[in-house]
Amino acid sequence: MRYSRIAGIGHHVPETVITNEYLSSIMETNDEWIVERTGIKERRYVDPTKDTVANMAAKATRMALQRANLTEKDIDFIVFATITPDYFFPGSGVLLQRELGLESIGALDIRNACSGFIYALSVADQFIKTGMYKTILVVGAEIQSTAIDMTTRGRNTAVIFADGAGAAILQPSDKPGILSTHLHSDGRFAEELYVRDPGSSRPREERQPEQILDTTTYKVVMNGNQVFKHAVVRFMEVINEALASNNMTRENIDLLIPHQANLRISQYIQEKMGLSDAQVYNNIMRYGNTTAASIPIAMSEAWAEGKIKEGTNLCLAAFGSGFTWASAMIRW
Ligand code: UT7
Repeated sequence: MRYSRIAGIGHHVPETVITNEYLSSIMETNDEWIVERTGIKERRYVDPTKDTVANMAAKATRMALQRANLTEKDIDFIVFATITPDYFFPGSGVLLQRELGLESIGALDIRNACSGFIYALSVADQFIKTGMYKTILVVGAEIQSTAIDMTTRGRNTAVIFADGAGAAILQPSDKPGILSTHLHSDGRFAEELYVRDPGSSRPREERQPEQILDTTTYKVVMNGNQVFKHAVVRFMEVINEALASNNMTRENIDLLIPHQANLRISQYIQEKMGLSDAQVYNNIMRYGNTTAASIPIAMSEAWAEGKIKEGTNLCLAAFGSGFTWASAMIRW
């Protein structure tokens, strides 16, 4: 049986630290509210004059390659998860391929929001198992800060979403590896967390820049309460699905890395599942919610802190816009 394993993991976050105090100075919010409702203390925003989704991804990739003792030339396919690509099209996968100086390898973009990294991991896992590719770069990278409404009207998203990138290198292995992945969606809730434009299903005159009167349709809109309620249910379901499909129980989880949506969501899951502090990894306090990048950034930091080692049973789980939700069970 052929499995895939993660040979290296890396991340990159932009330099600029945005504190709760700074946000409080430009909109009606405050540190106490943000910490109590989300657990976030600070996050990183790009400098749009130098950072791009693709170049942050390249930096994360180089860290992952170095930790895997590989070079760019070893990569034979890219799966890139982002909902904030540098261009409306083409996707960021080809821009990363160019940035890494790679010639003509395939690059696939995944648009599954907060679940994007696990979807991407699952796609790459199938390609490795079939023998089609040997070294796949799986990336989650986002620039959310430029699509956020930075006024009081947008405060429920402004305090949460932020920028960053994470990357994993997948290679074949004769022992597990990625044990299973589980992917779900429910499009009935698409508009509960979305950016409307530049949507294609608009009359032509509404898509011309001079006709754009309501720029709020270009900003992130979220019905936070509704998202929260669904998130806690789906996170639990999909983690339990991963456990059941591997004949495991919660005691077998050495480390759970939930998508860093909101610290309260992670704590709710931890409590409901009866997991100890050592079994759950969170870094949302420092980076906010970086959508598809949050899981690989957390994996990279957890690995560097020695919390992920050979033999670790690692469970990943995510929920977000779509709605989509997903999990992965990995033996490191
Ligand atoms: O990445 C995956 C997808 N995203 C998520 O999983 C996020 C899920 N949702 C959440 O994390 C929470 O819903 C939020 C943190 C976004 C909001 O927390 P909440 O407890 O659900 O607050 P709320 O939206 O029900 O708002 C409560 C009050 C409102 O004021 P009134 O109407 O009670 O006077 C809001 O206007 O809090 C107000 N509010 C704020 N106040 C200060 C909303 N955002 C802020 C803010 N600062 N940033």
